[in-house]
Amino acid sequence: MAWVRNPRRVGAIAPASRALAQAIAAEVSRVGPELLLEIGAGTGAITQALADLGPPPERFFIIERDPGLVRHLHHRFPRAEVLHACATRLDALPLPAAGSLMLVSSLPLLSMPRDEARRCVQAMLALLERQPNARLLQYTYAARHVRPFDQLPPGWRWRRVTTVWANLPPATVWSLEPAAHATHGIH
Ligand SMILES: C[S@@+](CC[C@H](N)C(=O)[O-])C[C@H]1O[C@@H](n2cnc3c(N)ncnc32)[C@H](O)[C@@H]1O
Repeated sequence: MAWVRNPRRVGAIAPASRALAQAIAAEVSRVGPELLLEIGAGTGAITQALADLGPPPERFFIIERDPGLVRHLHHRFPRAEVLHACATRLDALPLPAAGSLMLVSSLPLLSMPRDEARRCVQAMLALLERQPNARLLQYTYAARHVRPFDQLPPGWRWRRVTTVWANLPPATVWSLEPAAHATHGIH
């Protein structure tokens, strides 16, 4: 598995914990998006918690770049659309129209090569701006005041959802959302 072969390329020392997966799933459940798109699903630790929410298969997309992990995800989540794709090409994905969209990203934006991170961020922002009622959930292992990235389009803000201390390492979950929705602000 990609994890064992090359943890640096995968971008983490261990799969997401159940506590982190549940924190993310709880936020997804609270918002209740019509379309759910997980980016960089890895071994599927977070995917499982998302799948447990019961999204319709045609509304639940999973993107992963590593071919071995894509095979694993296909097998493990037959009721989801698993796509072998790079996050820098989100614009080319055949996504259905929907009234609301939630991106859930496990991309290691703070540890991947800077240019790749920039292109992933651009692609995610382009998708968010194109879809109505769109949000991005992104977690990081950085200090809890460090936002995942700073180059935001006008009118978008980060909201810190929670820090999961029980994860290894502790992870902070952030929501990027239109300022009008970011009622709790950034702390
Ligand atoms: C931190 S790991 C995912 C952890 C996952 N939540 C888990 O618990 O298994 C990041 C994942 O993003 C994938 N990835 C990295 N860069 C990517 C890219 N540009 N496009 C798509 N997937 C990418 C890696 O292959 C890896 O599986």
